Amino acid sequence: MPAAHRPRVKVASFALAPKPELIAKLKEHDIVVMPSIGAAKHAKKVAGWGADAVMVQGGEGGGHTGPIPTTLLLPTVLDGLLDAGHDIPVIAAGGFFDGRGLAAALSYGAAGIGMGTRFLLTRDSAVPDAVKQLYLSQGLTDTVVTAKVDGMPHRMLRTPLVESLEETSAVRRLGPTARRTLEFKRSSGMSWPQLLKDGRAMRRAQGRTLGQMALAANTPTMLRAGLVEGDTSAGVLASGQVVGVIDDLPSCAELVERIVVQAAAELRRAGSYVV
Ligand SMILES: Cc1cc2nc3c(=O)[nH]c(=O)nc-3n(C[C@H](O)[C@H](O)[C@H](O)COP(=O)(O)O)c2cc1C
Repeated sequence: MPAAHRPRVKVASFALAPKPELIAKLKEHDIVVMPSIGAAKHAKKVAGWGADAVMVQGGEGGGHTGPIPTTLLLPTVLDGLLDAGHDIPVIAAGGFFDGRGLAAALSYGAAGIGMGTRFLLTRDSAVPDAVKQLYLSQGLTDTVVTAKVDGMPHRMLRTPLVESLEETSAVRRLGPTARRTLEFKRSSGMSWPQLLKDGRAMRRAQGRTLGQMALAANTPTMLRAGLVEGDTSAGVLASGQVVGVIDDLPSCAELVERIVVQAAAELRRAGSYVV
């Protein structure tokens, strides 16, 4: 289908304690709302607030992530939603990169898969080439989940910067944290009262301490430094464990095509075992 004729579906997907007001506002504007969740209870909560679908991210996934692997989280969420009478599509995420994964997710009962790290490693992604090459050189054990960047478990590449953050005490991190908070305030254009108000709301919703809230302002600045500016000495590189099995940079179109073709073949093969 020519690009101009393809249907354009507006989707909002986001993590970290979505609010019912935000979901309602997005839906008022005909935007499909698909929060990313890491527990069955959160899936039921956002479904009750009117979310159109949920993205279930297992612990192996990149970015903010929980402790439960996709293979256990996905069936738990599917069952939890079903028991609570919420019939919405569930998208599986965390560790997917090929057609076998798509076939497996569909077999679990998911409606599809979401991929972060795999799409980052495509020719179409805007991440600097040198950074993509760094990702491609990583193995299965080269990511780490750290709360030292923004106070929440965050899976990223184990770079020298992340290793030093892991080893540095909270007191020594205070200076850089304050500096990045100021940078974030400048680049976001938010006032101190706005920042404090948002911070208090997140604190209430997520039960985070004030120290964690201060750290949270680090994330956009550090992700931008690493992934947009390519400065790996000042920035962090969010990544799933799946980085260890990715070794090429296809276009997004090639990637989707090969995943769909392989998934169809795998489902046919698996179907031949069913009597
Ligand atoms: C570089 C990077 C940045 C991400 N940023 C966000 C984000 O801002 N918001 C969000 O909800 N998820 C974010 N994620 C998580 C992805 O949306 C997706 O759930 C996750 O990457 C799936 O796991 P995978 O990396 O194994 O494919 C990010 C992931 C990566 C790798």
